[in-house]
Amino acid sequence: MRRTNTCGELRQKDIGKEVCLQGWVRFSRDHGGVAFIDLADRYGITQIVFDPEDVPGGVDAAALSGAMRDFTRESVVSVSGTVRKRVDGTEDARNPTGEVEVLVTGAELLNRSRPPPFELGDQKEGVLPNEDTRMRYRYLDLRRTEMAQAMELRSRFLHLVREYMGGNGFLEIETPVLARSTPEGARDYLVPSRVHPGAFYALPQSPQLFKQMLMVGGMDRYYQIARCFRDEDSRKDRQPEFTQIDVEMSFVDMKDIQDTIEGMVAHVWKGLYGKEVGTPFRRIGYREAMETYGSDKPDLRYGLEFVPLTETVKDAPYDIFQRIIRGGGIVAGLNLKSGVAGERIGRNDVDRYIGQAKKFGLGGLTWMRCKDGKLESNITKYFTPEILEAIKQRMGAEEGDLLFLIAGPWKPTYEGGGALRRKLAEDLGLIPEGEMQFLWLVDCPMFEVDPVSGRHGAFHHPFVLPEGDIDAPGVGGACFDLCLNGNELGSGSLRIHDPELQARVFKKIGMDDEGIEADFGFFIEALGYGAPPHGGIAIGVDRFLAILLGKDSIREVIAFPKNKKAVSLLDKSPAKVDEKKLEELQIISLAIDDLDLCGLEEPDEE
Ligand code: AMO
Repeated sequence: MRRTNTCGELRQKDIGKEVCLQGWVRFSRDHGGVAFIDLADRYGITQIVFDPEDVPGGVDAAALSGAMRDFTRESVVSVSGTVRKRVDGTEDARNPTGEVEVLVTGAELLNRSRPPPFELGDQKEGVLPNEDTRMRYRYLDLRRTEMAQAMELRSRFLHLVREYMGGNGFLEIETPVLARSTPEGARDYLVPSRVHPGAFYALPQSPQLFKQMLMVGGMDRYYQIARCFRDEDSRKDRQPEFTQIDVEMSFVDMKDIQDTIEGMVAHVWKGLYGKEVGTPFRRIGYREAMETYGSDKPDLRYGLEFVPLTETVKDAPYDIFQRIIRGGGIVAGLNLKSGVAGERIGRNDVDRYIGQAKKFGLGGLTWMRCKDGKLESNITKYFTPEILEAIKQRMGAEEGDLLFLIAGPWKPTYEGGGALRRKLAEDLGLIPEGEMQFLWLVDCPMFEVDPVSGRHGAFHHPFVLPEGDIDAPGVGGACFDLCLNGNELGSGSLRIHDPELQARVFKKIGMDDEGIEADFGFFIEALGYGAPPHGGIAIGVDRFLAILLGKDSIREVIAFPKNKKAVSLLDKSPAKVDEKKLEELQIISLAIDDLDLCGLEEPDEE
């Protein structure tokens, strides 16, 4: 029997046709001798019927019935029969094949399934087992409609990306997976060399250096759907291995790179949803984003904007604010308008948020409420009527509005404020479903200075082109992020193409000559052979898809992800290896017990 159709294909127009379907027995039931099977594949589900009263001439009813009794759940089977209209009133409007069924005339078990450890049908939503069980049997989990749809979206998405990039003169070039270990953001995964015992390759954290060297090599426009590896703690939006749309271009400015990505997103959008995506995306400076939304990846889908109050309250005889402002800190306020939210947050709720302040990373949290035309709270006695009036004006506070005030050092306080803002938006149901708000975060600094050690670190990475003298305080970097709904989707920049400047930037972030030569000598050398001005970006595919599907975790859009402990429960990796293999690599084996790979009892650190 050869398959004529998939399980998602048959419609009214096919009535009367002889077909052969092959797929998995998702569900079966017996209604007084009449047997029904839901036959499933990734395209859909078709109802198969065996009716002893309605067996065509020449078919052995008893043999057929016997064969079908063998069709246990999730066994893979082949059935042939005639497409017919379902009995009136038994159609299933939710299923595209729901108007028809196949009256079976032949059936064959292709491969029996052991009883599946969990229910795969959509009829039992909400009864999914815990995630570790899904990972352990991922091949079964992938049979679920939801997972199949996620994989299909991923494939269509990547196809559209390739179509756009290829159509716009970008060369798809693969860069090495075995490369040198260089100090980048995260830890490397190392691969020992057998030929050179004691030496290691590293799996790439990103193709950054190679894509820049492709520009030196004159490739002009490069892209790659690149697998990247970072040994960092897993989170809902982080996996040890993940995929980037990696792009690099020569002779461009920042807008050229952003235009390319906007064009690509618009092409993908049109292809997936048949809709336009509003371009150009809004641009927000780093400082403005932090001071308005408390985030460098602001979520623009709801209001709740911070208003700076440092100047307004600087003369208030309120000791806590005084000390913070004298120490260079800030005060800012958030107005929960009475119509939107303010009235829904009572005194107990306010206390609850204050109790959570530390969790948000805030030193503390104060509040004021606008009542009878005046601001009231437990701290208003420390403020003069004039200052209270000024706060009211500055915050646009009206009757019933609730103000939250945050105070402390600039970065942690705004970041804490951003966490509070997100929590408030969630608690108050202010986040509209299905809305997509892209933005470019621009005007970023080149370096971040550690407030304790005074050490400089790269804000993005050390290959970003500085926008001025690197020794000038607060010098900007020609870098930017693409954000979507409060998530960082990608980051890009113009690059340094002058070898001397590159070496100076490495020094600025604390590397010495020897370290620079050892880790990046080859790269600086490459820049010395006529590196063109260039720049690029990388977009996280997994994050993008998770957001498109409204999923909380990128594990939902990766076929075989690692769990929270960076373990693949399916093939049980990482795993001990044979002593012989270690000997070959001249690696001394550690006497480890069997690894605890499961992590079911691990608290969810996310
Ligand atoms: P960056 O490190 O910001 O930049 O990474 C770019 C994008 O990749 C995604 N991403 C991840 N996704 C899942 N799991 C992870 N562990 C993970 N880490 C990063 C994010 C992120 O925005 N070479 C530079 C880009 C460039 O300058 O061209 C780079 O890799 O969506």
